[in-house]
Amino acid sequence: MKSTIEQEYLSSAFNALPQAVAEGTVGWQSPSNIAIVKYWGKYGNQLPENPSLSFTLSAARTETTLTFRPKEAKGISLQFSFEGKPNPPFADKIHKFLTTVEPFFPFLSSFELNISSQNTFPHSSGIASSASSMSALVLCLLDMEQSFTGQLLNEEDFLRKASYFSRLASGSASRSVFPYASVWGETKAVAGSSQEFAVPAEAVLHPLFQTMRDSILIVHSGTKSVSSRAGHALMENNPFAATRYALANQNLKDLLKALSTGDLEEFIRITEEEAMQLHALMMTSRPSYLLMQPETLSVIQAVRRFRKDKSIPLCFTLDAGPNVHLLYPAQFAAEVTKFLEDELLGYCVGRRWIDDAAGSGPQRLKL
Ligand code: PMV
Repeated sequence: MKSTIEQEYLSSAFNALPQAVAEGTVGWQSPSNIAIVKYWGKYGNQLPENPSLSFTLSAARTETTLTFRPKEAKGISLQFSFEGKPNPPFADKIHKFLTTVEPFFPFLSSFELNISSQNTFPHSSGIASSASSMSALVLCLLDMEQSFTGQLLNEEDFLRKASYFSRLASGSASRSVFPYASVWGETKAVAGSSQEFAVPAEAVLHPLFQTMRDSILIVHSGTKSVSSRAGHALMENNPFAATRYALANQNLKDLLKALSTGDLEEFIRITEEEAMQLHALMMTSRPSYLLMQPETLSVIQAVRRFRKDKSIPLCFTLDAGPNVHLLYPAQFAAEVTKFLEDELLGYCVGRRWIDDAAGSGPQRLKL
């Protein structure tokens, strides 16, 4: 059954092409995000088993341009390059996505599409780029649509639509389109929250959390042994799934309270508990798997020691991978950077880390 918003987008799909359709280029840059309460487990068409909350990052971004030229034959026609070179696996993923959303963007099949994409962070860093890349692509599609319809959606509707279609491409991408922080998944704790798109959460943030820094330590840069897609699927038979979804709901409520009151202690508790639960779920999947590396654990131990010894509110979180995100308010940047350089860089591949922070969200590229 189609949801209300799906029906709305289908019925407002722009079918008629203007008389003289010209070629054009649109471009967006969109950031990655780091979840504090994690989305892990999904059902139906990319719907989350529990609500999640993330900070939108700023340094880790994807820049995408989309050039379109009218063509005769119908059907999706795509040329794709990543960092200047053809990339068949990414091209396949994008082709599949464009085919899925074609009913919403029927004009797509009347053009040759040339998509070119690059990341601002190192390609082989092991940092997931689907949130930034898929949201950048969707923003380009919406711009292309607006250039035909001549109708500009207001910002709220535009971002909701961007979030909805980003979700269809990659669940966590739904959260990347909003500045600073956002919540995806229905929860009584956030009015207007939805399973189908994320909503902005910047307004909730106490000033301490508006300047959140994220130093990303690259402790391992290879491909993951189990993809996120497979990981989500394994939640269907995870014996702890029901408990996990209940805890995530509770953690989200508690987190919103901590974010609005500036309660760093509670923020640290929830952030680290969520990272550990995510990886515990991987270890207790059937079959079990492990994405942490020995260096991940060494960094975690060192972070906890540093926090206790120095009374500095530094904590860690993990994505579905071995790299460690260090989170802290900007006012502690000097001490944390020193600690990182003195004690943690030895655990990083090529002493590599990314100096990131919560940021203002996607931007249209000036072409
Ligand atoms: O969006 P996906 O399907 O790549 O899943 C991302 C899941 C985590 O990064 C582990 C958690 C999250 O909420 O971003």
